[in-house]
Amino acid sequence: MSLRLAEHAGFCYGVKRAVELAEQAAASGKKCVMLGHLIHNDSVIARLEAMGISSVERPGDVPEGAAVIIRSHGEPRAVFELLESRGAEILDATCPNVSQIHKIVAEAEQNGRQSVIIGSPEHPEVRAIAGWCRRGVVLADCEALERWLDEEPENRAKPITMVSQTTSTRADWDLCVEKAKKECTNLKVFDTICGATCKRQRAAQALAAESNAMIVIGDRKSANTRHLAELCRALCPMVIWIERGAELEPSNLYGKASIGITAGASTPGWIIKEVYDKMSDEIMEIEESFAELLEKSI
Ligand code: F3S
Repeated sequence: MSLRLAEHAGFCYGVKRAVELAEQAAASGKKCVMLGHLIHNDSVIARLEAMGISSVERPGDVPEGAAVIIRSHGEPRAVFELLESRGAEILDATCPNVSQIHKIVAEAEQNGRQSVIIGSPEHPEVRAIAGWCRRGVVLADCEALERWLDEEPENRAKPITMVSQTTSTRADWDLCVEKAKKECTNLKVFDTICGATCKRQRAAQALAAESNAMIVIGDRKSANTRHLAELCRALCPMVIWIERGAELEPSNLYGKASIGITAGASTPGWIIKEVYDKMSDEIMEIEESFAELLEKSI
């Protein structure tokens, strides 16, 4: 039985940067809260809370005199303005890749262009991007794009700037780009899927194609982990999605010759290690008992 970890898995640099910023704030002893959960990982959030960084849901809930950490998904412009007006110290952990999208849609609007954001309408990153342009439209996928184009005849002729949620899958985005290029007469496309996402998706696909089973580690709320699981399912007969090692039942994997592990961008190394160690111990036990059986049978 072999156990392999995908070449790229776990924390991306944007998430790592956000967590380090929060840890530094906690170590400095300053009164500090995070606005919303810093990243999509309940275990990491619980750890930060234990270090004294609690989370608040709304900008109005930030206690007076406290610094506030903006999560890696970013926030709408209005949230920054409100916090500034209240005199809060802002520790901005917005991933630079996400900030770049804010800039693109804000400039598009200044230039009279219609921003089209391809992504999950409910995802905090997407809601934040939409909050940097007043007339932006959020479309979940190629079908939604098609419906929007059909809604008003003039939509096809509008000056459109199209961007993507950073964690979209390449295949979904390519379909949207193809459709928009075919239909729209004044289109600017910015491929804003992040490099870390692409690397994790490609590495997971490569490993899934060579494995009898895949373990995908990541929080249930994590969009990029969900995409990893979907991509693996298309290539591997058995995919198990877990948040922590305790959820794993290794006996479900008996008889699988090769097992792969991948993890979403908000999964810390210590959870990956927890799963890897649990599986390694189990494999060792299986192999030892198999060797014993073999010996007895001879
Ligand atoms: Fe940033 Fe990409 Fe991670 S956008 S937060 S580096 S998945």
